[in-house]
Amino acid sequence: MFSDRIGRITPSATLEMTAKAAELRAAGIDVINLSVGEPDFPTPENICLAGKQAIDDGHTRYTPGGGTMDLKKAVIEKLSRDNDLQYDTSQILISCGAKHSLYNACQVLFQTGDEIIIFSPYWVSFPDFVSVTGAKPVFVSTNPSQQYEPVMDDLKAKISSRTKGIIINSPSNPTGGVWSDEAVLKILEFAEKEDAWVFSDECYEQLTYDRTYVSTAFLGENTEKVLTFQSCSKTYAMTGWRIGYTAGNAQVIKAMGKLQGQSTSCPNSIAQAAAIEALTGDQSEVSQMRNVFKNRRDYIVDRLNNMSGVNCNTPGGAFYVFPDFSSYMEDDSKIKSSDDLSMYFLEQKAVVSVAGKAFGSDSNIRFSYAASEDDLKRAMDLVEESLTELK
Ligand SMILES: Cc1ncc(COP(=O)(O)O)c(C=O)c1O
Repeated sequence: MFSDRIGRITPSATLEMTAKAAELRAAGIDVINLSVGEPDFPTPENICLAGKQAIDDGHTRYTPGGGTMDLKKAVIEKLSRDNDLQYDTSQILISCGAKHSLYNACQVLFQTGDEIIIFSPYWVSFPDFVSVTGAKPVFVSTNPSQQYEPVMDDLKAKISSRTKGIIINSPSNPTGGVWSDEAVLKILEFAEKEDAWVFSDECYEQLTYDRTYVSTAFLGENTEKVLTFQSCSKTYAMTGWRIGYTAGNAQVIKAMGKLQGQSTSCPNSIAQAAAIEALTGDQSEVSQMRNVFKNRRDYIVDRLNNMSGVNCNTPGGAFYVFPDFSSYMEDDSKIKSSDDLSMYFLEQKAVVSVAGKAFGSDSNIRFSYAASEDDLKRAMDLVEESLTELK
């Protein structure tokens, strides 16, 4: 009954865990949800007010398919202010979240016969975005103790003239790893040699804790084939508003706009008005959020490393930790995989996490620290207790 296309994609594991947590909560269980991929803060008030004003002002109709000119100009201002990147409006496309931006870009550039490099562990959606186009995801390993930077020899072995694209995601979901400029530059060199597109997913660019973030397109000399993807979701706690954007090659932007026009017509008009305020208004809440996340990161990394048999690298960004629990997984024990362990935390202690398998790494579990300090402490106490019970 279904097309081959739909058979090539799998449901999002992270959204599935969120649904499972909601189910348990509805059943009256006191669940601590560390599976979430969104800030636990409300959208800043100035942004909400801009959304309300947009309704009062009657901005409730279709906008141009690729986004309003005013929002494109706001994106240009933001990219220049924060990332030292200069674009014109023909190089900007507004979409319904960066997920939509990335999906569109894969659709217009990739097809059967192409190979796309994805660094593992990877954000759950990348392989599906690629597979649905008919192209083949090619996984390259990374170094956990070095912010999950690529293992360059593995990349060298897997990149070829068939490589049509390389997807970078730093800071990373699920690892939180932030790559050095040197690592990014090496990738750009590899890409240039094979004439491949570089997708730089920069959704977490404002959430780095140990160094200032540098955009991929700023680093390269020849950035004609670098596409930059950013989002209002994580930076401004606006996940539900659904505004993301792409910056780069005008022809690709035009093609993505054509696809978008025939699928969603345009991004939400009210959310676009609010996004202008987010990108160009007061930025102080962004740094406040960053400080809170940094303290939580330090807390959760410390707690995990103090648990026997757990190894947690300190991620430089985003709001995830990705500890290694392989010492608890054995073929002849009741915990054989990350799925088993994540389910064990859920069933025994009502702590929701995401199994690393979904991200291509079965030794790990992803915990999000976009949760209150109290919840983090209770969750870590429970995880520690449940590990002790396993021994
Ligand atoms: C790595 C990464 N890219 C893109 C997105 C998409 O964000 P949005 O569509 O909300 O802008 C997410 C969201 O979880 C993400 O983690």
